Amino acid sequence: MKKFNRLEIKKICCIGAGYVGGPTMVVFADKCPLINFYVVDINKEKINAWNNEDLTKLPVYEPGLDNLVKKCRGKNLFFSTDIEKNIATSDIVFISVNTPTKTKGIGAGKASNLMYVEECARQVAKHAKNHTIVVEKSTLPVRTAEVIKTILQEAQNNRDNKHNMPTFDVLSNPEFLSEGSAIKDLNEPDRVLIGGESEEAIDLLSKIYKNWVPKERILHTNIWSSELAKLTANAFLAQRISSINSIAALCESTGADIREVSRAIGSDKRIGSKFLDSGPGFGGSCFKKDILNLVYLSNHFGLPEVADFWEGVVEMNNWHQHRISKLIVQKLFGTISEKKIVILGFAFKANTNDTRESAAIQICRDLLEEGAELIIHDPIVDKGQIQLNLDNDKTLTERDKNHENNYEYQGSWNFTNQLNTVFDDAHAVVILTEWEEYSDLNWISISKKMQKPAWIFDSRLIVDTKKVLEANLKLWRIGDGT
Ligand code: NAD
Ligand code: UGA
Repeated sequence: MKKFNRLEIKKICCIGAGYVGGPTMVVFADKCPLINFYVVDINKEKINAWNNEDLTKLPVYEPGLDNLVKKCRGKNLFFSTDIEKNIATSDIVFISVNTPTKTKGIGAGKASNLMYVEECARQVAKHAKNHTIVVEKSTLPVRTAEVIKTILQEAQNNRDNKHNMPTFDVLSNPEFLSEGSAIKDLNEPDRVLIGGESEEAIDLLSKIYKNWVPKERILHTNIWSSELAKLTANAFLAQRISSINSIAALCESTGADIREVSRAIGSDKRIGSKFLDSGPGFGGSCFKKDILNLVYLSNHFGLPEVADFWEGVVEMNNWHQHRISKLIVQKLFGTISEKKIVILGFAFKANTNDTRESAAIQICRDLLEEGAELIIHDPIVDKGQIQLNLDNDKTLTERDKNHENNYEYQGSWNFTNQLNTVFDDAHAVVILTEWEEYSDLNWISISKKMQKPAWIFDSRLIVDTKKVLEANLKLWRIGDGT
């Protein structure tokens, strides 16, 4: 069979309808009206949610996503659980499934669990009919493409009918979008990275991106550089946050102000001003996972010093989150048992409903362990998700490793998405996510409802200091030693 029997790519299948697969294919469909996109997933509920007529029920919240789904769904964009058929009839198959940190076995706690990726490779090997370009969209350890290639090759060898066998190319095309700005990032990427060996396959994938991305931003590398560049980009970004948070602690002890320090260093072009906002510590599904993966790989390749260097970034983040919890307890006279504390924001950053690895999880757990009565507000995250994170999820924190069953603590928590009643009788307010609605609260009216002395802990530097102090409230702000 001729390898590329079509001049044009007509149909693309993306396995994994999550935070990456969903929005990525939505933007592809918008930009490439002549190609049909099928996003498939084993999770039926998720596919139903993507097909929901009510666009507020989509499984991913991203500004601008609903309008694009409305525009493309049913035209050249489809969400389906029929994985076999869509693999069989596609020219390109993206693998965009989750790659969580392994919790058991060799490399537990650090290495990526590749079982979902492997499963996808096996499905493609079994069901593909023609020449198929397999694209790694998930973030993967270096040399995973080798595993995928081997699986595809072995499956071919085992097919009964050796005639009309499909052929494959494997490319690495990691995704760099950030949640909360996914649509913008996909529309205007700083770069698109395509790693691989086959020039023809690289050209075909590049051609799709060229529909909207300037060609000088489409970088071609070898496949291993592409895989490693994705892990490295996340490690560098996370490193900046741990760096600035470490200096925030120093600011609080020395009378300096972290915003002034950030501005001063960020105006050096070599350092740059982005990713210098001190906060409650980085969250999200990827920074910690990808750094730990880098740590595992470094150790695996006999580079323990490199591993230790990067592990320090995660350790600093953990320390920083506990530091905030401890400080809240200290300010509230050393005990928060049965004190009502309002938590503003549970998502790991604003403009997303994602709570994976959110700093709020660790900080709330610390406060609950001290016996606090938390009332948690988030405009988008729902109660069920918070329950999963606070009561059931055993994979997230160091301390959890000692708990076999559900997490147990002294305090209690409740949830509301109404801001008007949340402050009644509260001893403190802790701002953990930078939702816009928290930056313009009426502190005078809030102060009247709270128990005195009442504290505001602002871990995102979003409140108006003057207004809070004028309202007879005590204020702690991250990195503010003034
Ligand atoms: P996710 O958990 O939101 O979605 C993954 C989806 O894959 C799930 O819906 C799951 O049901 C599905 N899936 C798993 N195995 C499957 C199989 N065999 N067949 C069909 N569907 C299957 O994960 P995500 O956040 O979209 O991340 C996906 C990958 O992209 C990860 O490797 C991640 O590191 C990377 N990444 C994530 C982001 C981000 O912002 N979330 C950004 C860049 C890269
Ligand atoms: C991050 C990267 O920015 C993306 O390029 C990458 O594709 C993605 O990870 C991934 O691989 O999953 P994301 O985690 O969605 O994106 O969001 P970020 O904006 O990077 O924020 C991560 C965390 O760092 C958040 O908790 C955020 O609040 C925190 N942060 C970010 C700060 O504390 N300060 C900053 O200056 C920036």
